[in-house]
Amino acid sequence: MQKVSELYRGKAKTVFVTDDPSKLILEFRNDTSAFDGEKIEQLDRKGEVNNKFNHYIMQKLEQADIPTQVEELLNDNESLVKKLDMIPVECVIRNYAAGSLCRRLGVEEGSELNPPTFEFFLKNDALHDPMINESHCLSFGWATESQISEMKVLTFKVNQVLSQLFSKGGMLLVDFKLEFGVDAQGNIVLGDEFTPDGCRLWDKETKKKLDKDRFRQGLGSVVESYIEVANRIGLAL
Ligand code: TMP
Ligand code: ASP
Repeated sequence: MQKVSELYRGKAKTVFVTDDPSKLILEFRNDTSAFDGEKIEQLDRKGEVNNKFNHYIMQKLEQADIPTQVEELLNDNESLVKKLDMIPVECVIRNYAAGSLCRRLGVEEGSELNPPTFEFFLKNDALHDPMINESHCLSFGWATESQISEMKVLTFKVNQVLSQLFSKGGMLLVDFKLEFGVDAQGNIVLGDEFTPDGCRLWDKETKKKLDKDRFRQGLGSVVESYIEVANRIGLAL
């Protein structure tokens, strides 16, 4: 598999076209971004840790019959993935209140949400990823009715599988964001990544934050915490 050219440079990953038109290479960089790119720093080993973390999680999801984009871990910082036509919305499930939900609704951080909430956000940094609803998805042609329902079903299934996985490691999966795409056969497939950059994880007992909130809030030990999360779920890094 040969890299041919750069297709897209995101805030933390670069996507490359390969000599196989149905495959892309994702490079996980050390860049760490928060507040829609307002705060960016290079954190040692972060690319490698997230690349391996993402591959491990995607394998677990595949074992639970959730279709994912991931094909193969190529090296420390790169993975081979299926080319998808990405749907420009982010699917967020929250099991406990945190982040923008607390700011928006005045809820206390840590309140349990039963049942969990599901929200859509538009992937658009310039607009600060505004929250949108299903009707917006349909009117603006971002996703069809069946794609919306499929993304919701899959996101809830991911929540079930991963809440259990992190719980076994003594952690609460507070919330997370997923992005989906459409493959060559028209199927909805989980794309992008699942790493501590795009979810919140707290230690069950102490409620210590182990995710990107450590970076957003300047708490330090960011990559060390990601490695601790990986180790606790059975991935030695
Ligand atoms: P929020 O509390 O900022 O709305 O985020 C909810 C969860 O989704 C949190 O784990 C971070 C993740 N997320 C991203 O990773 N990227 C995004 O652009 C958004 C909107 C959320
Ligand atoms: N992922 C977004 C960014 O990189 C938002 C955030 O995580 O705060 O800026």
